[in-house]
Amino acid sequence: MSDWIEVGMIEDIPQLGARVVKTTQGNIGVFRTAEDEIFALKDECPHKKGPLSQGIVHGKRVTCPLHNWNIELDGGDVVAPDEGCAASYPVRIEDSKVSISLQTAS
Ligand code: FES
Repeated sequence: MSDWIEVGMIEDIPQLGARVVKTTQGNIGVFRTAEDEIFALKDECPHKKGPLSQGIVHGKRVTCPLHNWNIELDGGDVVAPDEGCAASYPVRIEDSKVSISLQTAS
């Protein structure tokens, strides 16, 4: 049993960018890669809570806009040498419609 929240169509999310979804668990950034893969992470950098949704997406990573930490979109791990993990959320895509679940994957 999980609650899926509709985010919109894949096209509604800027490529190499993100769209923010307000939820009961705070803001979640829904990211789109160049290959149209979609990932959802809490919109809070594990460093000092920078808004990851305003970062630059490259490959399967996003660079935090505040101090340039790199975060893996798949799973939320911070790329070394920095350390930490952003909460990640399951993503479902049906007919180009994107939904996320608030049940954290990790
Ligand atoms: S708040 Fe993200 S790198 Fe510092």
